[in-house]
Amino acid sequence: MHKSRSVAGTNNKRVTNDMIILGIDTSCDDTCAAIVQDGKRLLSNIVNSQVTVHHEHGGVVPELASREHIRNIVPVVRESLRKAHLTNKDIDAVAVTVGPGLVGALLVGIYFAKAFSYANAIPLLGINHLEGHILSIFLEEKSPPFPFIALTVSGGHTNIYHVRDFGDYTVLGKTLDDAAGEAFDKIAKLLELGYPGGPVIEKLAAAGRPDAIGFPRAYLSKASLDFSFSGLKTAVALYFRKWCDHQPKENKIKIADIAASFQAAVVDVLVDKVVAATTRVGVNSVVLAGGVARNTYLRSRLQSVMAQKGIDLFIPGPEFCTDNGAMIAVAGYHRWTRGEGDDLTLDARSRFPVDQA
Ligand code: KG4
Ligand code: ZN
Repeated sequence: MHKSRSVAGTNNKRVTNDMIILGIDTSCDDTCAAIVQDGKRLLSNIVNSQVTVHHEHGGVVPELASREHIRNIVPVVRESLRKAHLTNKDIDAVAVTVGPGLVGALLVGIYFAKAFSYANAIPLLGINHLEGHILSIFLEEKSPPFPFIALTVSGGHTNIYHVRDFGDYTVLGKTLDDAAGEAFDKIAKLLELGYPGGPVIEKLAAAGRPDAIGFPRAYLSKASLDFSFSGLKTAVALYFRKWCDHQPKENKIKIADIAASFQAAVVDVLVDKVVAATTRVGVNSVVLAGGVARNTYLRSRLQSVMAQKGIDLFIPGPEFCTDNGAMIAVAGYHRWTRGEGDDLTLDARSRFPVDQA
């Protein structure tokens, strides 16, 4: 279907018909570019994190994120090519996140991808960021059979999907307010632990007792697979205020107990709703993805519950859980094999439900 060319190194004469895709993601605070062959084989994966820029603000500042992406996009793509021992000419298509995300940030990646596609006369593929997270598992050696349930938990989204095939997704549940990662970030800010909140809360929680404080679990209606974390956030804030008033007097509850009890409240709801989803649609495989999937407490709790139920659990490696260009290249590959593609009118979509991808 497309040309044969030499890949992987200037002296390497290996000729392949495999599709090599450059994947770009600038949806939030990481400038990401990766190169993936045949929707599976990772050739390079570069992530330039802006954590130090946003850390002092306790969260992502959209204008600063856009400015950093502008500064970083060219060196990051160049590095992805260098690491893969490739040049522009070896790339068969460019896939880029179009949403959901911060519009100003998304536009940097989109305009770069348009220029790259035009200059190299290769296809342009606009990708839904959440589809990228769902498909990140296909970068691993062991990938799930269809159909499966996917729980994507990130800074902006908490969703449960029924995944029937590449490009065939039904949303079974979503957050009605804060995303799980956002709750971690907000609680970390409250406890003055910095940004991003997930890793610092997890570290602190390891020294605390998950059952020390009975924070609320919002299950909503019994049949609901939706989430709500704003009530939990308020409960932790109120508790913390009272707790501070009693410091440094004898207090049996430590700050690590607050972190551990908060984490347990989030994880309990996530695990229970995933179990309910597998029962509802009758699948034997579950995928956990997104930045919060790096959380070892969540990973191990889900692992043990799924093992009890005889359901196979698939979790991408940590580098594929948080935002990356590789998952965008994977999603691009499958769009391309379906004969889909975009033209230069491609635009950013701050809101972009995955079932419209
Ligand atoms: O997927 P991601 O990189 O970006 C979005 O698409 O939002 O997810 C980032 C989110 C942040 O909210 C961060 O606090 C959270 O993932 N996160 C974690 C952990 N590592 C990152 N949350 C809990 N535990 C972690 N270890
Ligand atoms: Zn993400």
